[in-house]
Amino acid sequence: MKDRKILLGEKDIPRYWYNILPELKTPLAPPLNPKTQKPINPEDLAAIFPMALIEQEMSPKSEIPIPEELMDVYSLWRPTPMFRAYNLEKALGTPAKIYYKYEGVSPPGSHKPNTAVAQAYYNKKAGVKRLTTETGAGQWGSALSFACSFFGLECKVYMVKVSYQQKPYRRSMMQVWGSTVVPSPSRDTEAGRRILAKDPESLGSLGIAISEAVEDAATHEGTNYSLGSVLNHVLLHQTIVGLESKKQFEEAGVKPNVIIGCCGGGSNYGGFMIPFVRDKMAGEDIRFVAVEPTACPTFTKGEFRYDFGDTAELTPLMKMYTLGHDFVPAGIHAGGLRYHGDSPLLSHLVKEGIVEGAAYHQNPVFDNAVLFAKAEGIIPAPEAAHAIMAVVEEAKRCKEEGKEEVIAFNLSGHGYFDLAAYDAYLANKLEDYEHPEEKIREALSRLPLIESY
Ligand SMILES: Cc1ncc(COP(=O)(O)O)c(C=O)c1O
Repeated sequence: MKDRKILLGEKDIPRYWYNILPELKTPLAPPLNPKTQKPINPEDLAAIFPMALIEQEMSPKSEIPIPEELMDVYSLWRPTPMFRAYNLEKALGTPAKIYYKYEGVSPPGSHKPNTAVAQAYYNKKAGVKRLTTETGAGQWGSALSFACSFFGLECKVYMVKVSYQQKPYRRSMMQVWGSTVVPSPSRDTEAGRRILAKDPESLGSLGIAISEAVEDAATHEGTNYSLGSVLNHVLLHQTIVGLESKKQFEEAGVKPNVIIGCCGGGSNYGGFMIPFVRDKMAGEDIRFVAVEPTACPTFTKGEFRYDFGDTAELTPLMKMYTLGHDFVPAGIHAGGLRYHGDSPLLSHLVKEGIVEGAAYHQNPVFDNAVLFAKAEGIIPAPEAAHAIMAVVEEAKRCKEEGKEEVIAFNLSGHGYFDLAAYDAYLANKLEDYEHPEEKIREALSRLPLIESY
């Protein structure tokens, strides 16, 4: 029998997170204060984040130790397994070797708790009593709900309305862990009421839900805001995925040639691939492919420029690939990939030519999700299925070229709460949607033009 799984013991859980910031050849453009358009300082962020996370956001240290109390929580599901996808290779008849890291074994079912528990921990230490957040797919909301219940914090989740309707059981999950969940746009915030006045039928977007959660945190005593992706400290916490994967590849005696992941705000992919960027910088031949939906083509059609992280223009301006902060995406089923921007750190790596973008329509993505489920057993989250689509394309290329490349991807979550999406796919009800260039240009024309950083 062939070894399918590459497993680590609890003693192998990394003891630190890896921070790439000090090793970048050119520094990241600074986030700017949304009112003054000048670089922000730590105090600007202190209204909604604890100082420990603000320090991590800007840290000059390459390795940041993981506190012992967090190691204890991580050990509930870490280290996560890596699999060799022998059956998928066979189904594709490819000479490529396909490996995947599986983050769906965490209690909420994705990579998101890797940062949720860290954020809840540092907020608790800072004396915060309540956290607010947004959720698209419901994966992040359930991860933060799980984390808050562990650390005894209250949690309020603004859930993008289309996902609230599509995924009632994700909402139940958050409620089981003790959170309050409202569909966004809601009547609970000024930002939500303003959107509803303009469009009472609004299906919401991550940008709108972020505005609501940030406003709630800024206007309630003892409350902080927590973001599930995009920011440096979130990608930092997720590097635990890539650090474990490096050990697993060493154990398997292989080196990945292509590293693939899906991208919403960039946290699962950033966390998986960033520890390998060092190897690429040291001369190793590795390609990095970030995959997104054609309906939300941030890297493949967006522009690299300063934009707000939310619709109501409350967050700092960040230099990133963006489709414009008032972008309201089509209601595709990969709810977690419907964000107008992307992590500034990952955007920087795309701009530098280290990472390439790829975009796919949802129907072929689901074709490949089903192919994967039949071959490997796990039903992937629709977000993660975007990565699978790119893996299959790369494996076919290897077949055509007769190459035995090692293809690695992060299966960022399972799809067991996404079966409504699979139902729609099986009933031929999924529509493919390409976000038009004119709409992107129009949205970008409303952005402040900031050239100086
Ligand atoms: C399973 C899964 N994968 C990927 C993503 C995309 O987010 P990110 O790019 O931050 O990893 C999400 C977001 O909700 C998700 O639920």
